[in-house]
Amino acid sequence: NGNKPLNGTTAIVTAGPTIEHIDPVRYISNHSSGKMGIAIAEALADAGANVQLVLGPTSQQTSHTGITTIKVQTAQEMFEAVTTRFPHAGIVVAAAAVADYRPANVADRKIKKGEAQLHIDLEKTPDILRSLGDSKGPQQLLVGFSLETNNEKEYALKKLREKHLDLIVMNSLADAGAGFNYDTNKVTLFDKNGQERSFPLKSKQEVAQDIVSAIIELQHA
Ligand code: PMT
Repeated sequence: NGNKPLNGTTAIVTAGPTIEHIDPVRYISNHSSGKMGIAIAEALADAGANVQLVLGPTSQQTSHTGITTIKVQTAQEMFEAVTTRFPHAGIVVAAAAVADYRPANVADRKIKKGEAQLHIDLEKTPDILRSLGDSKGPQQLLVGFSLETNNEKEYALKKLREKHLDLIVMNSLADAGAGFNYDTNKVTLFDKNGQERSFPLKSKQEVAQDIVSAIIELQHA
């Protein structure tokens, strides 16, 4: 079908958690399942986009035609997979829950049990979305997520502004049925033009549709 709205557009979607190694047997991670990002990848592909799904470690997957999955583990690997593909992309949606910190040194042997307390020094990971926002061209559309437990709107608007995004999807762990691993989510969209839209609790597939509709609208604005 040559008439789909995103025909000829390449979209990159990040999804899932990252894992940051401590030693050969342990890591730091979070509760992301990848469901939200995979639903967005599928909705973009349904709209005709050629989708590159950069997916952290999860058992969730998609067999949708029109989606190429690139599996990564760490924030650094996700950063490299996204930034190398970015010059060819018209749309990026960052739904992944990327670790903000990683162990400064990865032990090459299993850390043995000893003292009552163990300290692990952490260092910042690269902020993928911020780096895309700093280098994006006028035709590239950047969509971020914001996940918080408090001061949700304030933090979401700060990320929209500071990461130079076109659209941010706010979701909160304070809302029942929203966020990690559920099949549902409850979001508010804020765009760079000051438009704010709140949606009720819906399936992640329906939320993905709302996000893709907002993306298509922004492209024509
Ligand atoms: O995967 P599910 O189980 O379906 O859950 C979905 C979800 C809750 C993970 C998803 O809806 C969501 O909110 N994803 C973003 C989670 C997050 O880490 O948000 P944040 O507010 O910390 O990050 C802000 C934005 O910057 C996000 O778009 C994030 O992908 C991006 N980021 C963050 C850190 C970093 N180093 N690089 C980034 O690109």
